[in-house]
Amino acid sequence: MADKLIIFDTTLRDGEQSPGASMTRDEKLRIARQLERLKVDVIEAGFAASSNGDFEAVKAIANAIKDSTICSLSRANDRDISRAAEALKGANSARIHTFIATSALHMEKKLRMTPDQVLEQAKLSVRFARNLVADVEFSPEDGYRSDVDFLCRVLEAVIAEGATTINVPDTVGYAVPELYGNFIKTLRERVPNSDKAVWSVHCHNDLGMAVANSLAGVKIGGARQVECTINGLGERAGNCSLEEIVMAVRTRKDYFNLEMNIDPVHIVAASRMVSQTTGFVVQPNKAVVGANAFAHASGIHQDGMLKARETYEIMRAEDVGWSSNKMVLGKLSGRNAFKQRLQDLGIQMESEAETNAAFARFKELADGKSEIFDEDILALVSDESVTHEKEQYGFVSLSQHSETGERPQAKVVFTVDGKEVTGASDGNGPVDASLKAIETHVKSGAEMVLYSVNAISGSTESQGEVTVRLQNSGRVVNGVGADPDIVVASAKAYLSALSKLQSKSDRVAAQG
Ligand code: KIV
Ligand code: ZN
Repeated sequence: MADKLIIFDTTLRDGEQSPGASMTRDEKLRIARQLERLKVDVIEAGFAASSNGDFEAVKAIANAIKDSTICSLSRANDRDISRAAEALKGANSARIHTFIATSALHMEKKLRMTPDQVLEQAKLSVRFARNLVADVEFSPEDGYRSDVDFLCRVLEAVIAEGATTINVPDTVGYAVPELYGNFIKTLRERVPNSDKAVWSVHCHNDLGMAVANSLAGVKIGGARQVECTINGLGERAGNCSLEEIVMAVRTRKDYFNLEMNIDPVHIVAASRMVSQTTGFVVQPNKAVVGANAFAHASGIHQDGMLKARETYEIMRAEDVGWSSNKMVLGKLSGRNAFKQRLQDLGIQMESEAETNAAFARFKELADGKSEIFDEDILALVSDESVTHEKEQYGFVSLSQHSETGERPQAKVVFTVDGKEVTGASDGNGPVDASLKAIETHVKSGAEMVLYSVNAISGSTESQGEVTVRLQNSGRVVNGVGADPDIVVASAKAYLSALSKLQSKSDRVAAQG
């Protein structure tokens, strides 16, 4: 019988550590529900001790999700571990993931601890965590760059203390596949009690090899858990991407011979939701979830595809949630057709009220746009008017005037804590004028570090999706807005970013 490969998703923890990707509790909960639909085995919901906001997010996810194990990260100290256990109280199945750095560089320069102190701390932490939950994961941070003899001592000791999963991070993305695979193999061979734990891989993508390294850890090293994120989201160049690892193992079952729980039909909706929530746009040529991943443009390819799709296609687009019928609905479509489409796309609304709000938003959109594509539907379900998430600033309406040779003028009506205000300004262009109009009231002092517009379904008829990244006092946030009018989309994105920036919850990750 084939072994099982455990899929451990850390979009909501390591993914969220990417500057600007921080999510609210409700956003995290929505993504966690999608991960549960995807049948992810373990969801790392956050780092409970890092902030009150993250504690509440882990707690909400632990209470709501029933089919996946919910995990919280914690540094190797009693306070962090207690906080994690507290947040995880409501979970059906809870895991504490504790870590401490083991490379000479990190121990000396960052922790200022001797190897013996680190070893002792690791043992005490796992012992403490095991008294609180039965499922404890231990990670030696910067494990791949650690001295192998020392690492073996640490790992043997933490397994003896009851660690059930041993995760070996390539924290800085330095590994290459063969070496990383052999590293895991060596550790498993040399640690005497290695068979008492599940071995896990956790690779960063600094050299673009996170997926290849993880696969080598599985194939050569015998790891049976992969840590990954949707769209490969994560600090710097990101983490190993869930969709790529899952589809590689599934498509090449002949080679890997591993089973997974994952239901891949929910992959595209998950990718879309993470991108929409964080404002991290997916590149068109991204494997599996990029807009071009299944598009065949060359004549020779198209001809081959028409004769037999296997000539150029190794996976079926429908299997990962791309619909074969892209143009779906129009303004005459009814509620049932809309609900059916949501279901086909793997989207489950949280309540009847949300479905009603989504349908109302759909009708509004269909009034101004003749064809509604799947991408439009995926975007509209995250709209604030649908999720009813209370943001400090909310868009109401916008008017603007621009004419060749004249300076554009804009007037924006928006709400501040529910109260309507109007701002007016001129600007270099209509977008600039609109954002300046908002600033006449808000006076945020924030610096814009990124502004990007993306056509959701690739034509001028399409909705524009705008991402705005703002920075203020060391905090970086992204806001996303979608609308057929890109000036409106920009104002929505800007207001959403301002809301995140000024949200009261402290959401600063306290890694390391
Ligand atoms: O990359 C890393 O080392 C981590 C650990 C905390 C597991 O994310
Ligand atoms: Zn990491």
